[in-house]
Amino acid sequence: MAEPVLKWAGGKRQLLDELYARFPASFDRYHEPFVGGGALFFDLAPDGGSINDANPRLVGFYERVRDDPNRLIERLESFDDPDSEPDPDLAFAETDRRGRAVENYYYQQRARFNRRPYGDEFDPLEEAALLLYLNRTCYNGLYRENDDGGFNVPIGRYADPDWVQRSRIRAASRVLRDVALHNDDFAYVLDRASAGDLVYVDPPYEPMSATADFTDYSAAGFDRGDQRRLLDVARELDEMGVSVIASNSGVTHDRYEAAGFDVAVEGATRAINSDAAARGEVDEIVATNVPPADRADAGQRGISDF
Ligand SMILES: C[S@@+](CC[C@H](N)C(=O)[O-])C[C@H]1O[C@@H](n2cnc3c(N)ncnc32)[C@H](O)[C@@H]1O
Repeated sequence: MAEPVLKWAGGKRQLLDELYARFPASFDRYHEPFVGGGALFFDLAPDGGSINDANPRLVGFYERVRDDPNRLIERLESFDDPDSEPDPDLAFAETDRRGRAVENYYYQQRARFNRRPYGDEFDPLEEAALLLYLNRTCYNGLYRENDDGGFNVPIGRYADPDWVQRSRIRAASRVLRDVALHNDDFAYVLDRASAGDLVYVDPPYEPMSATADFTDYSAAGFDRGDQRRLLDVARELDEMGVSVIASNSGVTHDRYEAAGFDVAVEGATRAINSDAAARGEVDEIVATNVPPADRADAGQRGISDF
Protein backbone atom coordinates (compact mmCIF):
# COMPACT_ATOMS: atom_id res chain seq x y z
CA MET A 1 0.00 0.00 0.00
CA ALA A 2 1.31 3.43 -0.98
CA GLU A 3 0.00 6.92 -1.60
CA PRO A 4 -0.18 9.02 -4.77
CA VAL A 5 2.95 11.12 -5.33
CA LEU A 6 1.18 13.71 -7.50
CA LYS A 7 -2.01 15.68 -7.05
CA TRP A 8 -4.05 14.97 -10.16
CA ALA A 9 -7.35 16.33 -11.49
CA GLY A 10 -10.03 13.73 -10.91
CA GLY A 11 -8.06 12.02 -8.14
CA LYS A 12 -10.16 9.23 -6.68
CA ARG A 13 -9.23 9.20 -3.02
CA GLN A 14 -12.78 10.20 -1.98
CA LEU A 15 -14.24 7.28 -3.91
CA LEU A 16 -11.94 4.47 -2.79
CA ASP A 17 -14.45 2.69 -0.54
CA GLU A 18 -17.10 2.75 -3.27
CA LEU A 19 -14.64 1.31 -5.76
CA TYR A 20 -13.40 -1.42 -3.41
CA ALA A 21 -17.02 -2.33 -2.63
CA ARG A 22 -17.37 -3.43 -6.26
CA PHE A 23 -14.21 -5.50 -6.42
CA PRO A 24 -14.72 -9.17 -7.23
CA ALA A 25 -13.89 -11.53 -4.34
CA SER A 26 -10.81 -12.59 -6.28
CA PHE A 27 -9.08 -11.58 -9.48
CA ASP A 28 -5.81 -12.33 -11.23
CA ARG A 29 -4.13 -9.16 -12.46
CA TYR A 30 -5.11 -5.49 -12.20
CA HIS A 31 -5.07 -2.96 -15.05
CA GLU A 32 -5.68 0.79 -14.94
CA PRO A 33 -5.73 2.40 -18.42
CA PHE A 34 -6.17 6.04 -17.19
CA VAL A 35 -3.93 5.98 -14.15
CA GLY A 36 -3.39 9.75 -13.61
CA GLY A 37 -2.33 10.23 -9.99
CA GLY A 38 -3.18 6.58 -9.33
CA ALA A 39 -5.18 6.96 -6.10
CA LEU A 40 -6.66 3.45 -6.37
CA PHE A 41 -3.58 1.89 -7.95
CA PHE A 42 -1.17 3.02 -5.21
CA ASP A 43 -3.62 2.15 -2.45
CA LEU A 44 -4.17 -1.32 -3.88
CA ALA A 45 -0.51 -1.96 -4.73
CA PRO A 46 -1.39 -4.87 -7.04
CA ASP A 47 0.94 -7.77 -7.60
CA GLY A 48 0.72 -7.89 -11.36
CA GLY A 49 -0.94 -6.25 -14.33
CA SER A 50 -0.46 -2.90 -16.00
CA ILE A 51 -1.04 0.82 -15.76
CA ASN A 52 -1.25 3.35 -18.57
CA ASP A 53 -1.74 7.02 -19.29
CA ALA A 54 -1.75 8.97 -22.55
CA ASN A 55 0.34 11.77 -20.97
CA PRO A 56 4.02 11.06 -21.84
CA ARG A 57 5.46 13.27 -19.11
CA LEU A 58 3.33 11.57 -16.47
CA VAL A 59 4.47 8.12 -17.61
CA GLY A 60 8.08 9.35 -17.82
CA PHE A 61 7.72 10.49 -14.22
CA TYR A 62 6.56 7.05 -13.06
CA GLU A 63 9.46 5.43 -14.91
CA ARG A 64 11.95 7.54 -13.00
CA VAL A 65 10.11 6.95 -9.69
CA ARG A 66 10.32 3.21 -10.37
CA ASP A 67 13.90 3.00 -11.67
CA ASP A 68 15.72 5.91 -10.09
CA PRO A 69 14.03 7.03 -6.85
CA ASN A 70 17.20 8.15 -5.09
CA ARG A 71 18.52 10.29 -7.93
CA LEU A 72 15.04 11.75 -8.37
CA ILE A 73 14.96 12.73 -4.68
CA GLU A 74 18.47 14.22 -4.93
CA ARG A 75 17.43 16.31 -7.91
CA LEU A 76 14.33 17.51 -6.08
CA GLU A 77 16.45 18.46 -3.06
CA SER A 78 18.61 20.65 -5.31
CA PHE A 79 15.67 22.85 -6.32
CA ASP A 80 15.03 26.28 -4.82
CA ASP A 81 11.97 27.96 -3.44
CA PRO A 82 9.52 29.02 -6.21
CA ASP A 83 9.73 32.68 -5.18
CA SER A 84 13.51 32.88 -5.35
CA GLU A 85 15.49 34.58 -8.11
CA PRO A 86 15.94 32.69 -11.40
CA ASP A 87 19.14 30.64 -11.49
CA PRO A 88 21.56 32.49 -13.81
CA ASP A 89 23.39 29.24 -14.60
CA LEU A 90 20.35 27.60 -16.19
CA ALA A 91 18.81 28.10 -19.61
CA PHE A 92 15.65 30.25 -19.84
CA ALA A 93 17.07 32.48 -17.13
CA GLU A 94 15.91 35.80 -18.53
CA THR A 95 12.98 35.32 -20.88
CA ASP A 96 10.59 32.50 -21.65
CA ARG A 97 9.98 31.28 -25.18
CA ARG A 98 7.37 33.97 -25.75
CA GLY A 99 9.93 36.60 -24.93
CA ARG A 100 8.44 37.53 -21.56
CA ALA A 101 10.74 38.18 -18.65
CA VAL A 102 11.09 35.24 -16.31
CA GLU A 103 10.73 36.98 -13.00
CA ASN A 104 11.30 34.12 -10.62
CA TYR A 105 12.57 30.58 -10.21
CA TYR A 106 9.12 29.00 -10.64
CA TYR A 107 8.65 30.36 -14.18
CA GLN A 108 12.18 29.40 -15.06
CA GLN A 109 11.49 25.82 -13.96
CA ARG A 110 8.19 25.79 -15.82
CA ALA A 111 9.98 26.80 -19.03
CA ARG A 112 12.52 24.03 -18.46
CA PHE A 113 9.72 21.51 -17.94
CA ASN A 114 8.26 22.51 -21.32
CA ARG A 115 11.33 21.53 -23.34
CA ARG A 116 9.87 18.25 -24.59
CA PRO A 117 6.54 19.55 -26.01
CA TYR A 118 8.42 22.34 -27.78
CA GLY A 119 10.84 19.91 -29.41
CA ASP A 120 13.94 20.77 -27.36
CA GLU A 121 16.28 18.20 -25.87
CA PHE A 122 15.33 17.17 -22.38
CA ASP A 123 16.74 15.04 -19.61
CA PRO A 124 14.15 12.49 -18.38
CA LEU A 125 15.33 12.70 -14.76
CA GLU A 126 15.11 16.48 -14.76
CA GLU A 127 11.71 16.43 -16.45
CA ALA A 128 10.39 14.02 -13.82
CA ALA A 129 11.76 16.13 -10.97
CA LEU A 130 10.25 19.26 -12.49
CA LEU A 131 6.84 17.62 -12.85
CA LEU A 132 6.69 16.95 -9.12
CA TYR A 133 8.20 20.34 -8.27
CA LEU A 134 5.61 22.21 -10.35
CA ASN A 135 2.82 19.96 -9.11
CA ARG A 136 3.61 20.99 -5.52
CA THR A 137 4.23 24.68 -6.16
CA CYS A 138 1.76 25.61 -8.93
CA TYR A 139 -1.62 27.22 -8.44
CA ASN A 140 -4.12 24.67 -7.07
CA GLY A 141 -1.72 21.79 -7.67
CA LEU A 142 -3.33 21.06 -11.02
CA TYR A 143 -1.84 19.72 -14.21
CA ARG A 144 -3.03 21.66 -17.24
CA GLU A 145 -1.61 22.10 -20.75
CA ASN A 146 -2.38 24.65 -23.43
CA ASP A 147 -3.13 23.61 -27.02
CA ASP A 148 0.49 23.23 -28.00
CA GLY A 149 1.23 20.95 -25.06
CA GLY A 150 2.97 23.44 -22.76
CA PHE A 151 2.23 23.18 -19.05
CA ASN A 152 0.72 26.59 -18.28
CA VAL A 153 -0.38 26.73 -14.64
CA PRO A 154 0.83 29.87 -12.80
CA ILE A 155 2.71 29.92 -9.51
CA GLY A 156 0.75 28.99 -6.38
CA ARG A 157 0.98 30.53 -2.94
CA TYR A 158 2.06 28.04 -0.32
CA ALA A 159 3.59 28.91 3.05
CA ASP A 160 5.98 25.99 2.99
CA PRO A 161 5.68 23.81 -0.11
CA ASP A 162 7.17 20.31 0.14
CA TRP A 163 8.20 19.20 -3.31
CA VAL A 164 10.62 16.46 -2.28
CA GLN A 165 8.14 13.83 -1.03
CA ARG A 166 10.84 11.28 -0.12
CA SER A 167 8.72 8.62 1.56
CA ARG A 168 5.97 8.75 -1.05
CA ILE A 169 8.50 8.36 -3.86
CA ARG A 170 10.18 5.38 -2.19
CA ALA A 171 6.88 3.60 -1.46
CA ALA A 172 5.54 4.31 -4.96
CA SER A 173 8.78 3.02 -6.48
CA ARG A 174 8.24 -0.40 -4.88
CA VAL A 175 4.62 -0.58 -6.06
CA LEU A 176 5.53 0.39 -9.64
CA ARG A 177 8.04 -2.47 -9.95
CA ASP A 178 5.23 -5.03 -9.92
CA VAL A 179 3.31 -3.81 -12.99
CA ALA A 180 3.94 -2.98 -16.65
CA LEU A 181 3.85 0.74 -17.45
CA HIS A 182 2.40 1.95 -20.77
CA ASN A 183 2.12 5.32 -22.52
CA ASP A 184 -0.62 4.53 -24.96
CA ASP A 185 -4.28 4.93 -25.73
CA PHE A 186 -6.57 3.17 -23.21
CA ALA A 187 -7.47 0.49 -25.79
CA TYR A 188 -4.04 -1.14 -25.13
CA VAL A 189 -5.81 -2.97 -22.32
CA LEU A 190 -7.56 -5.27 -24.80
CA ASP A 191 -4.14 -6.80 -25.53
CA ARG A 192 -3.03 -7.00 -21.89
CA ALA A 193 -6.09 -8.20 -19.99
CA SER A 194 -7.41 -11.74 -19.94
CA ALA A 195 -10.28 -13.62 -18.29
CA GLY A 196 -10.18 -13.31 -14.51
CA ASP A 197 -8.40 -9.93 -14.51
CA LEU A 198 -9.83 -6.66 -13.12
CA VAL A 199 -9.81 -3.37 -15.06
CA TYR A 200 -10.64 0.00 -13.51
CA VAL A 201 -11.31 2.80 -16.01
CA ASP A 202 -11.40 6.42 -14.83
CA PRO A 203 -11.36 8.55 -18.00
CA PRO A 204 -11.60 12.33 -18.22
CA TYR A 205 -15.28 12.68 -17.36
CA GLU A 206 -17.78 13.51 -20.06
CA PRO A 207 -18.89 17.09 -19.33
CA MET A 208 -22.25 17.58 -17.68
CA SER A 209 -23.03 20.47 -20.01
CA ALA A 210 -21.82 21.71 -23.37
CA THR A 211 -19.98 24.56 -21.68
CA ALA A 212 -17.99 22.45 -19.23
CA ASP A 213 -14.30 22.44 -20.02
CA PHE A 214 -13.33 19.03 -21.29
CA THR A 215 -9.73 19.32 -22.34
CA ASP A 216 -7.99 20.05 -19.07
CA TYR A 217 -5.99 16.84 -18.84
CA SER A 218 -3.80 16.97 -21.90
CA ALA A 219 -3.49 18.76 -25.20
CA ALA A 220 -5.02 15.73 -26.93
CA GLY A 221 -8.35 16.05 -25.10
CA PHE A 222 -10.95 13.33 -24.83
CA ASP A 223 -14.15 13.75 -26.81
CA ARG A 224 -17.50 12.00 -27.14
CA GLY A 225 -16.06 9.66 -29.77
CA ASP A 226 -13.47 8.58 -27.19
CA GLN A 227 -16.27 8.03 -24.66
CA ARG A 228 -18.05 5.75 -27.14
CA ARG A 229 -14.84 3.86 -27.88
CA LEU A 230 -14.34 3.41 -24.16
CA LEU A 231 -17.80 1.92 -23.72
CA ASP A 232 -17.04 -0.49 -26.60
CA VAL A 233 -13.78 -1.50 -24.90
CA ALA A 234 -15.65 -2.05 -21.61
CA ARG A 235 -18.18 -4.27 -23.43
CA GLU A 236 -15.42 -6.24 -25.10
CA LEU A 237 -13.62 -6.77 -21.78
CA ASP A 238 -16.91 -7.99 -20.32
CA GLU A 239 -17.26 -10.52 -23.14
CA MET A 240 -13.69 -11.69 -22.49
CA GLY A 241 -14.56 -12.51 -18.87
CA VAL A 242 -12.70 -9.53 -17.41
CA SER A 243 -14.17 -7.69 -14.40
CA VAL A 244 -14.69 -4.01 -15.19
CA ILE A 245 -15.28 -1.04 -12.88
CA ALA A 246 -15.82 2.36 -14.51
CA SER A 247 -16.29 5.83 -13.07
CA ASN A 248 -17.64 8.72 -15.11
CA SER A 249 -19.97 11.71 -14.92
CA GLY A 250 -23.73 11.31 -14.54
CA VAL A 251 -24.47 11.93 -18.23
CA THR A 252 -23.12 8.46 -19.02
CA HIS A 253 -25.53 6.75 -16.58
CA ASP A 254 -28.05 5.47 -19.13
CA ARG A 255 -25.46 4.38 -21.67
CA TYR A 256 -23.67 2.12 -19.18
CA GLU A 257 -26.98 0.79 -17.91
CA ALA A 258 -28.16 0.04 -21.48
CA ALA A 259 -24.89 -1.82 -22.06
CA GLY A 260 -25.78 -4.14 -19.16
CA PHE A 261 -23.61 -2.65 -16.43
CA ASP A 262 -24.81 -2.20 -12.87
CA VAL A 263 -24.71 1.59 -12.38
CA ALA A 264 -24.72 3.48 -9.06
CA VAL A 265 -24.81 7.21 -8.40
CA GLU A 266 -21.90 8.51 -6.31
CA GLY A 267 -20.48 11.77 -5.09
CA ALA A 268 -22.27 14.76 -3.69
CA THR A 269 -25.56 14.04 -5.42
CA ARG A 270 -25.78 10.38 -4.37
CA ALA A 271 -28.92 11.06 -2.32
CA ILE A 272 -31.01 12.48 -5.15
CA ASN A 273 -33.58 10.39 -6.94
CA SER A 274 -33.27 8.22 -10.02
CA ASP A 275 -35.25 10.62 -12.24
CA ALA A 276 -32.46 13.12 -11.78
CA ALA A 277 -29.95 10.40 -12.63
CA ALA A 278 -31.86 9.62 -15.81
CA ARG A 279 -31.75 13.29 -16.79
CA GLY A 280 -27.98 13.31 -16.30
CA GLU A 281 -28.10 15.67 -13.33
CA VAL A 282 -25.85 13.65 -11.06
CA ASP A 283 -22.15 14.30 -10.59
CA GLU A 284 -20.69 10.90 -10.83
CA ILE A 285 -21.48 7.25 -11.45
CA VAL A 286 -19.68 3.99 -10.85
CA ALA A 287 -20.59 1.19 -13.26
CA THR A 288 -19.52 -2.43 -13.04
CA ASN A 289 -20.14 -5.86 -14.52
CA VAL A 290 -19.25 -7.56 -11.23
CA PRO A 291 -22.49 -9.11 -9.92
CA PRO A 292 -23.25 -8.27 -6.25
CA ALA A 293 -22.95 -11.95 -5.29
CA ASP A 294 -19.40 -12.11 -6.66
CA ARG A 295 -18.14 -9.03 -4.83
CA ALA A 296 -15.71 -9.07 -1.97
CA ASP A 297 -17.69 -8.40 1.21
CA ALA A 298 -17.83 -4.80 2.33
CA GLY A 299 -15.41 -4.49 5.23
CA GLN A 300 -13.03 -7.09 3.81
CA ARG A 301 -11.01 -4.41 2.06
CA GLY A 302 -7.30 -4.88 2.39
CA ILE A 303 -7.60 -8.32 3.97
CA SER A 304 -4.62 -9.49 1.93
CA ASP A 305 -2.54 -6.89 3.77
CA PHE A 306 -2.90 -8.62 7.15
C1 LIG B 1 -9.67 11.27 -14.43
S1 LIG B 1 -7.95 11.20 -14.80
C2 LIG B 1 -7.52 9.78 -13.85
C3 LIG B 1 -7.45 10.10 -12.39
C4 LIG B 1 -6.92 8.96 -11.53
N1 LIG B 1 -7.90 7.92 -11.36
C5 LIG B 1 -6.46 9.46 -10.19
O1 LIG B 1 -6.83 8.91 -9.13
O2 LIG B 1 -5.68 10.44 -10.16
C6 LIG B 1 -7.86 10.72 -16.48
C7 LIG B 1 -6.48 10.45 -17.08
O3 LIG B 1 -6.68 9.95 -18.42
C8 LIG B 1 -5.58 10.33 -19.25
N2 LIG B 1 -6.01 10.19 -20.65
C9 LIG B 1 -6.64 11.09 -21.45
N3 LIG B 1 -6.93 10.54 -22.65
C10 LIG B 1 -6.47 9.27 -22.62
C11 LIG B 1 -6.49 8.19 -23.55
N4 LIG B 1 -7.02 8.30 -24.78
N5 LIG B 1 -5.94 7.00 -23.18
C12 LIG B 1 -5.36 6.87 -21.96
N6 LIG B 1 -5.31 7.87 -21.03
C13 LIG B 1 -5.87 9.04 -21.35
C14 LIG B 1 -5.26 11.73 -18.76
O4 LIG B 1 -3.91 12.05 -19.08
C15 LIG B 1 -5.56 11.64 -17.24
O5 LIG B 1 -4.37 11.41 -16.51
